[in-house]
Amino acid sequence: MTTPLNPTRRTVLNSAGIAAVTLCLGGCAAAGSGSATSGGSSSAGPVTVNAADIPVGSGKIVAPFVVTQPTAGTYEAFSYLCTHQGFPVGEVTDAAIVCEHHGSNFSLSDGSVLHGPATKALTKATVTVSGDTLTIS
Ligand code: FES
Repeated sequence: MTTPLNPTRRTVLNSAGIAAVTLCLGGCAAAGSGSATSGGSSSAGPVTVNAADIPVGSGKIVAPFVVTQPTAGTYEAFSYLCTHQGFPVGEVTDAAIVCEHHGSNFSLSDGSVLHGPATKALTKATVTVSGDTLTIS
């Protein structure tokens, strides 16, 4: 692509938009890593967590995932991004995964919507158990 010598307003705005998207992608990946173990790429996961850190009948946010243990020894994981408007969920209680932005609640066991405004379940992730370590991807 060549750059015109006298760029139009549209050309300048389009270039700025591409730069903003690029910055967001880089920033979002960095912000989402949290205490996670890096997978060596800019994509989410995998992350590892000690199984003992996930409370029975509740769960924990391990960005960019939320990990639950609905019943003893059964682990589930989901993307921590709320399906309503894409904000990270904020809390896991003994009743639900809670997005405090607009009040959506999701099931600990399958990520389904318990209370809107979200209408879609959280995106399921894969949990691999190895000894006392959970690997989420
Ligand atoms: S972004 Fe989660 S309820 Fe709106």
